[in-house]
Amino acid sequence: MPLPHEKYLEEVLIDEASLQKRVAELGQQITADYAACPDLLMICILKGGIMFLVDLTRHVHVPHEIDFLAVSSYGKGSRESTGKVRIDMDLSTNVSDRHILIVEDIIDSGETLRFVMDVLLARRPASLRLCTLLNKPSRRRIEIPIDYVGFEIENKFVFGYGLDLDEKFRNLPFIGVVKLDALPEAEG
Ligand code: IMP
Ligand code: MG
Repeated sequence: MPLPHEKYLEEVLIDEASLQKRVAELGQQITADYAACPDLLMICILKGGIMFLVDLTRHVHVPHEIDFLAVSSYGKGSRESTGKVRIDMDLSTNVSDRHILIVEDIIDSGETLRFVMDVLLARRPASLRLCTLLNKPSRRRIEIPIDYVGFEIENKFVFGYGLDLDEKFRNLPFIGVVKLDALPEAEG
């Protein structure tokens, strides 16, 4: 029996071992950079950032808190950013005067992160940095300063390790390229 994701999988772009190795390296870098920081707060952007946050936080050996911000930028069934981003679930932490590290799955057009950064900056954190697992620079519409990048990837639609294909397959332990001709047309 083929696994349910297999008909949508063109190829594995980043396998599990490569992901885990890079996440550990990012954790070491963050540990070094925040060694003197007393109150790091890692903010996971849901839902896509969940797998990355859970793995990354275990490689960050400075005391830190985690919190979650759920935003949506794509209509369900759509694979293009609408440019409209909204908060679905806000933080439970007051971020004023806190050192914030945003943990995101992918930066594509930049619309989502611009919105998230503006929301957070308005709350006057002590510092704000951004860590993204994947970066698709060819798709950028809004310039975003990125402090930590796992992998730069080409303009391909990918899924797994937090990233969804129409809300599914976030659980895969690798990043796969979507086989576009296996998909129904995206709505919206
Ligand atoms: P942006 O606002 O265009 O930068 O898009 C960011 C959001 O779009 C990410 O947080 C993802 O949820 C989603 N996204 C962008 N590219 C992909 C992809 O290749 N696969 C799955 N989701 C994606
Ligand atoms: Mg998504």
